[in-house]
Amino acid sequence: MSEHDSPLIKSIAVVGGTGKEGSALAKRWALKGYRVIIGSRSAEKAVATVTELNEELGSAYLAAMVNEEAVQNADLIVLSVPYSAHKPTLESIKAHLDGKTVIDLTVPLAPPAIFTVTVPEGKAACLEAQAMLGESVNVVAAFQNVSAVKLANPDNDVDCDVLICGDNADAKADAVALAEAAGMRGVDAGPLANAVAVEALTPVLLYINKTYKVKGAGIRITGLAD
Ligand SMILES: NC(=O)c1ccc[n+]([C@@H]2O[C@H](COP(=O)([O-])OP(=O)(O)OC[C@H]3O[C@@H](n4cnc5c(N)ncnc54)[C@H](OP(=O)(O)O)[C@@H]3O)[C@@H](O)[C@H]2O)c1
Repeated sequence: MSEHDSPLIKSIAVVGGTGKEGSALAKRWALKGYRVIIGSRSAEKAVATVTELNEELGSAYLAAMVNEEAVQNADLIVLSVPYSAHKPTLESIKAHLDGKTVIDLTVPLAPPAIFTVTVPEGKAACLEAQAMLGESVNVVAAFQNVSAVKLANPDNDVDCDVLICGDNADAKADAVALAEAAGMRGVDAGPLANAVAVEALTPVLLYINKTYKVKGAGIRITGLAD
């Protein structure tokens, strides 16, 4: 394993890490030397997913736990669940998040209308998370615009940027490091309030995928130095 990019992050719990987006990111971070725990509502499902992923990676890179245990054993949390499960999942882990960073990649989609922007009651899933968790938790928005299809094979080049929004500079720096560890450029896109725009881009990308018959259209910010 190689050294990971942020010495401040020792371990990551991916809540909902049995799913498409979370498992794909988890593999990439584990390969970069982070200790990654796949969290699930079900211990059996977590173990089954981790067994499969570790077989694919060729070594016991990932650990399996129920979400609550995963969060207690991690320095940084990544929340990767459907919007319909966002609030109940946060309620289930809230007691263990004090002082930690939560990177929330939930997109407030309203299936079947996934090609149209849905603005939730709290304006953005990330803002709803921050309101629920309070000021002792640093919520960061990231990875909403990155397709699991592109991430799934860790050898694939993921040709896009990751927009990162948050109100705590250190927490955003951790997210930038994790974007880079997963093979992308992390771009500071401002305060958490800007997550409204970042989350809203995903249905736009899904519409573009459908219209141009592609998988995993992404975004790239031009005009920045490399
Ligand atoms: N897929 C993508 O390409 C992509 C790209 C960017 C952003 N996102 C966003 O990332 C989040 C996760 O996406 P995903 O595609 O990984 O989702 P997913 O595979 O459908 O679900 C992720 C995990 O959420 C957990 N979960 C908790 N409560 C649930 C419920 N009520 N119904 C279904 N699953 C529940 C499940 O884990 P357990 O059953 O193990 O608890 C599931 O494996 C979503 O908000 C999505 O919009 C996805």
